[in-house]
Amino acid sequence: MKVGFYGHVQQYHNIKEEIDRNIQEVLESGKYVQGPMLKQFEAEAAAYFGSKYAVGVGNGTDAIWLSLTALGIGPGDEVITHANTFFATVEAIWIAGAKAVIVDCEPKTKCIDPAKIETAITPKTKAIIPVHLYGQCADMPAIWALAEKHGLEVIEDSAQGIDGRGDTFGQGEKSAAVTVSYIIQKNLGCFGDGGMVFTDREDIDKRIRKLRNHGSDQRDHHSMGFNSRLDDLQAGVLSAKLKHITEWTDQRIGWARRYDEKLKDCRQLELPCNRPGFRHVYHLYVIEVKDQAKRGDLLGFLNDHGIDAKTHYSIAIHRQEGFPWGKEYELAGSLDNAEKNAASCISLPMYPELTEEELDYVAAKVLEWDRANS
Ligand SMILES: Cc1ncc(COP(=O)(O)O)c(C=O)c1O
Repeated sequence: MKVGFYGHVQQYHNIKEEIDRNIQEVLESGKYVQGPMLKQFEAEAAAYFGSKYAVGVGNGTDAIWLSLTALGIGPGDEVITHANTFFATVEAIWIAGAKAVIVDCEPKTKCIDPAKIETAITPKTKAIIPVHLYGQCADMPAIWALAEKHGLEVIEDSAQGIDGRGDTFGQGEKSAAVTVSYIIQKNLGCFGDGGMVFTDREDIDKRIRKLRNHGSDQRDHHSMGFNSRLDDLQAGVLSAKLKHITEWTDQRIGWARRYDEKLKDCRQLELPCNRPGFRHVYHLYVIEVKDQAKRGDLLGFLNDHGIDAKTHYSIAIHRQEGFPWGKEYELAGSLDNAEKNAASCISLPMYPELTEEELDYVAAKVLEWDRANS
């Protein structure tokens, strides 16, 4: 049996009529950039995710640096984030011209460790960017408390955390902004690049609308800006898909519980945890191989049996060869947990379109390997 890592082609087939209808509507409208479909999707997304404003931008990386820039954060400022995220989080801080200060993650949740944030704060610190890694919410109450104590802004990088939240709060409730990526593999993905900034602050909304459109909010009038707009075709795809996000998130959580149950007796593996009081949306289902030296063996075994398992991410950010910036970043304390994660993680297939038969096959192969290595 072959089990792929993504289900988006199947997902398209499942709701083809709804997507095609929206695409057709945009094509016939003749309005492809900052047109009515973008406006409609921004309103729908703001309503669904409980945010006053939603601004569609070109991608999830731009969503982060445009938020930093809108907050006036740039050269001379420090922004704290963590080492085991996708490269783009730190890249966005660099694009904004600020210095990334990189701290370690919590050993179990893999999200930024609030205790490590506090020790990294200096007079130059302006913001914290927690990442809802793999779909697991960062410890937002602790992070908001720190931000309030030290007068810092918070931008939640929720590229992987779409539809996640705490039991008693929503994403972004006390943050300046929440940013998402709509690239296809995300829990809500379009057919190209896309991103969005959610904010309750009118000033941030206004600034990003201007920044994304060549610094213009009035025809022929410009200040320095950029070109980073979510186009209307992608907005149409996302508008059709948004109607299914609740159902898809529930399916992901259901698959996670099934993996948990089937793999609970594995001796060589750590299964993902779900921080109590928070909704993990399982963008990825990531297991850890206790003996790091055997990670490649399990990955190879799964791949050889037709299972497309991957690593997220096998090189922590500060170990990237292309990390060129010298003094534009700083490592704050040991990054042991992030490095351990990079050496031991494996992401199993996880998407709403997975079938029971496919999931059970993956779990059976993982179990088979675990038994053979115990
Ligand atoms: C955690 C995280 N942040 C930022 C991004 C950047 O998003 P994009 O690829 O849309 O620029 C991604 C994914 O791609 C991501 O996973």
